[in-house]
Amino acid sequence: MKKLSAHLESFGCQMNAYDTEVIASMLEEEGFRTCNNPRDADVIIVNTCSVRKHAEDRAIGRLHELSRHRDAILVVCGCMAQRMAANLFSLVPTLRIVSGTTSYDGLPDAIRESIKTGKRFCLIEHDSEVTYSLKHVRRHGSPSRYLSVTRGCDNYCSYCIVPYLRGNVRSKDPDSIINEIGEMIESGIKEITLLGQNVMAYRHGTTGFIALLERVLDETAIERIRFLTSHPRDVNPALFRLIAEHERICPHIHLPVQSGSNRILELMRRGYTRERYLEIIHGSRLIRPDLAITTDIIVGFPTESESEFKETLDIVERSSFDSVFTFKYSPREGTAAVEMSDDVPLEKKKERLAVLNGLVGKTRKRILEEQLGSVTEILLDGQVQKGENQFWKGRTPHFRNVLISGDRLDTGDFVRVRLTDIRNYTLIGEEQARR
Ligand code: SAH
Ligand code: SF4
Ligand code: F3S
Repeated sequence: MKKLSAHLESFGCQMNAYDTEVIASMLEEEGFRTCNNPRDADVIIVNTCSVRKHAEDRAIGRLHELSRHRDAILVVCGCMAQRMAANLFSLVPTLRIVSGTTSYDGLPDAIRESIKTGKRFCLIEHDSEVTYSLKHVRRHGSPSRYLSVTRGCDNYCSYCIVPYLRGNVRSKDPDSIINEIGEMIESGIKEITLLGQNVMAYRHGTTGFIALLERVLDETAIERIRFLTSHPRDVNPALFRLIAEHERICPHIHLPVQSGSNRILELMRRGYTRERYLEIIHGSRLIRPDLAITTDIIVGFPTESESEFKETLDIVERSSFDSVFTFKYSPREGTAAVEMSDDVPLEKKKERLAVLNGLVGKTRKRILEEQLGSVTEILLDGQVQKGENQFWKGRTPHFRNVLISGDRLDTGDFVRVRLTDIRNYTLIGEEQARR
């Protein structure tokens, strides 16, 4: 019998990207094959995000677009599926299956059944303690992979919908994480990013996140280790010392600040002040001077004044962020902040975002310029065409993009490069040596 083929698309965060891999591996175990083009698919699965309204609008738009493929059944899973559940059937009438964030085990059967009978399924569980691991490592291009070590979040930042859609935090067994990394290495993977909404909340029995990192260092041969996201309230010097002591742990931390104003940070329920945040990054750079720090910032949180926004600009100026993901506040039903009026007008939010992005771009350029002339190592993850020329692209340990030209290179190669130029916020390098 011909294998059923599945096409998967992922919106949202890295954890969603990992879940999409989990679902793909689950389907492959169940005898499906995966395909890159929705035209070839018997089932199209869209893994969605609800963190801002814009994310949902994009997913709905894409679902309508994909509805054209009449030969395939349409499935929506992820955070928007969890949030809207059966309401999605009226928004997207062609939809066959809605599956929430903890209902993926039932997906293969539901898909087969729906293809056979035309039935609709709405798989939504609440209060589930489930975690997921890859059934097998799928072989495709990149030498880097994500690996979720926790699911859910207990922080309940006042603006954020994630805890309501992903549930409370639970951690995977460290033995299973070590096994998963072992399987990735066997498939040629060189770099992993351990994921959690707040990785520092990882705890399984007596193993906390630092002990987990130590086990990964001791018990696996993975060449590069990254992790996301670190909550400023939970990081500690032991984490930064570990980064400083082990070359295999990449010297980059994603440490979302969200705002530079103490009043807004308190309304956001972030659990730190601007002074504490600045102290953390100062302290971390005493331990590891070249640490690359990236962050997330929300502008236009309810009641944010012009002078409070200036405090955000000020913290950006003081922090030397490598890059900043900037967002306009988007009210999310059910969160605490939604009780406050969304009183910063859209035009104001746009204006603040533009000013902030301008400053972020300047800092970023300055940091990249400081790298020129230095030698570093990149891990190649593919080729790109720029005008007439073909380049290899790779990332430095500090998570900076570099393009190089060269022959007889391959995806997954580690190449020592001298950084010689910058084009559109991307470093250009010259090959020095290969590992
Ligand atoms: N767990 C991570 C990030 C989760 S969501 C953390 O704690 O930082 C990614 C980013 O989206 C957040 O850092 C925040 O900057 C942004 N975000 C979350 N909810 C938002 C909202 N309602 N409006 C605008 N941005 C939001
Ligand atoms: Fe959302 Fe805060 Fe949890 Fe991050 S830490 S996922 S922003 S509630
Ligand atoms: Fe979005 Fe869900 Fe991730 S809301 S940011 S996909 S946890």
